[in-house]
Amino acid sequence: MSILITGGAGYIGSHTSVELLNAGYDIVIVDNFSNSKPEVLNRIKELTGKGFKFYEVDVLDKDALSQVFSENHIEAVIHFAGLKSVGESVAMPINYYYNNITGNLILAEVMAKHNVKKIVFSSSATVYGMNNISPLTEDLPLSTTNPYGSTKLMGEQIFQDIYVSDNEWSIALLRYFNPIGAHESGRIGEDPKGIPNNIMPYITQVAVGKREKLNVFGDDYDTHDGTGVRDYIHVVDLAKGHLKAVEKIMGTKGVKIYNLGTGIGYSVLDLVKNFEEATGVKVPYVITKRRPGDIAACFSDPTKALKELNWKTEKTLKDMCKDSWKWQSNNPKGY
Ligand code: NAD
Ligand code: UFG
Repeated sequence: MSILITGGAGYIGSHTSVELLNAGYDIVIVDNFSNSKPEVLNRIKELTGKGFKFYEVDVLDKDALSQVFSENHIEAVIHFAGLKSVGESVAMPINYYYNNITGNLILAEVMAKHNVKKIVFSSSATVYGMNNISPLTEDLPLSTTNPYGSTKLMGEQIFQDIYVSDNEWSIALLRYFNPIGAHESGRIGEDPKGIPNNIMPYITQVAVGKREKLNVFGDDYDTHDGTGVRDYIHVVDLAKGHLKAVEKIMGTKGVKIYNLGTGIGYSVLDLVKNFEEATGVKVPYVITKRRPGDIAACFSDPTKALKELNWKTEKTLKDMCKDSWKWQSNNPKGY
């Protein structure tokens, strides 16, 4: 019996693969390397000392995906595969809807055909939209402001509707807050293409000398120091949340929705300060204007995941900074 991990060569997928292998699961990874590199697979093997099957397959390729299910005894799926850049989604909405939505539909169709009805879906805090006040609980009204966010909200809806049509499904919708950090070995981490959109890879590229300074997007928000506040979560804590979610869907039916976050909001300047303290490396920055679409504060109420999954984060913001830096400084060019 194996867990199929779509997008397992990516940032969160690779860390989750390591945690699953270390916990004794057999895994099968499917990825088309649209946003990752084959080298990550060697690193996963190196870190765990375990082998696994890998298929270079696009989730949109129904026949190839179906073949993966025919050749393996898949018990459940963790579905990470998707495009994830907000800005790119505004410029290329067709690609985003096509890849993310069609990917969900084809995967669900193939799963149903092979009678595999357990899935963990990567959703995002972005589904809480602009109007809710943090801390955010799972029952708040949802909305989105960009095509990427819409694919996540529609993805949630698709899986909820599938359950309504067939109560044999067991589905976990996980809303991630802001994953940062890397495996403490420094062997796997986030490897963005081009100029990073997200703050932590930008900070580490400044620290390693690849970029001159960090642009802090606005210091006039209604937050403790005026800069944007987010719920940064260590990617290894996040990966462990997937283990708990897999355990949960193995034993139950229905749709479960969980926030995966720390419950603590830190500002951009808090992050810079913690990074400098944790690593001893200076991060020069300038304040620039707000980035369109950003909100002042976004952090989770993670109580439901604690109660129902017995999961909570263990790592501190300094751990996240230290591990991001170890990854970046040991792999200045990524994989
Ligand atoms: P990532 O880009 O590092 O990983 C996604 C992986 O999926 C990549 O390896 C990519 O090559 C693969 N992929 C994309 N489309 C595919 C397709 N059609 N077929 C096969 N493989 C495909 O991203 P990540 O940060 O690891 O995110 C994983 C998931 O979590 C995504 O669905 C993302 O939207 C979601 N998420 C990420 C964040 C974040 O900040 N990183 C926050 C919330 C939600
Ligand atoms: N920021 C800067 N400078 C930068 C990059 C970001 O000041 O160069 C600030 C932003 O304004 C924000 C904070 O740092 O206040 C975090 O920004 P990120 O881009 O790292 O993350 P976001 O919260 O904007 O969005 C991320 C993912 C989304 C996801 C969301 C919630 O990119 O896909 O978290 O999970 F939906």
